[in-house]
Amino acid sequence: MVHRFAAAGVAIVALDIDEVRANGTAQQVRDAGGRAIARRVDVANQSSLTEAASAADQAFGGCTILCANVGVQQFGAIDRLTEQDWRWVLDVNVMGTIHTVNAFLPLLRKSAGHRHIVVTASSASLTPGVRMGAYTTSKYAVMGYAETLRMELETENIGVSILLPAGMITRHLESSALARPTELGKSELRREDIDVMMASRKMDTANHVASADHATRHLLDDRAANERYIITHGEYRQSLVATFEQILRAHDRAQGE
Ligand SMILES: NC(=O)c1ccc[n+]([C@@H]2O[C@H](COP(=O)([O-])OP(=O)(O)OC[C@H]3O[C@@H](n4cnc5c(N)ncnc54)[C@H](O)[C@@H]3O)[C@@H](O)[C@H]2O)c1
Repeated sequence: MVHRFAAAGVAIVALDIDEVRANGTAQQVRDAGGRAIARRVDVANQSSLTEAASAADQAFGGCTILCANVGVQQFGAIDRLTEQDWRWVLDVNVMGTIHTVNAFLPLLRKSAGHRHIVVTASSASLTPGVRMGAYTTSKYAVMGYAETLRMELETENIGVSILLPAGMITRHLESSALARPTELGKSELRREDIDVMMASRKMDTANHVASADHATRHLLDDRAANERYIITHGEYRQSLVATFEQILRAHDRAQGE
């Protein structure tokens, strides 16, 4: 996302809990002739984001595009996930998204031009699977939050799109393990959980794991069009139809009773 926006001339504020990687991202943008700064943030912590928003304001005098994209994964069957696993995933994925928007919304409000927020949920928000209950719960919450945000900001002409990626070739599992607070102990990753999860989801991502570059190919156009949903890739139409048929059946049975 950084490189797509930077190539379109947007100045970048790269935020991540991994300061080395945030700095590296900003450096790549500058090396390509763009403008960028970086800051370490922990999105679970509101104050680190508030400071980042001040830094963005000082460096670039506002903010027109906000990507609330941080997310962590912890696989495991629901009865194996610990209370701490749940709290960490919900704190980072849900509260982290809320903190990010809370910190930057005042800057968007005072900035001129086409303002937009991209909130990253997941295909798991549309087609859930087993063995990732904390993650799926968090991404449903992110979806509900973003739907509300879109409606509430409509009158202010600030667009909101919900990015729904399927499997991507990124460092997601590695970065999740690294970002996990040490007091929670090492994260447990069982290959079996991933296999059982994939089999439960009836989607073809096993054959179609995309690069981040592919997954963001429509991002600029979709932002310009203020698309409500940005689905990156993956074939799971049947699963969507099955879900909505069940919702409509329940609705239609209740209607007129
Ligand atoms: N990779 C996939 O298959 C996939 C599928 C669907 C959705 N997603 C979602 O896409 C988004 C981006 O993930 P990605 O796949 O590009 O992985 P990524 O590892 O490239 O990006 C996630 C980043 O979040 C950072 N991070 C983790 N905890 C943080 C915290 N507390 N504060 C600040 N930064 C923190 C990590 O250091 C990492 O750089 C996430 O929301 C993820 O849930 C990913």
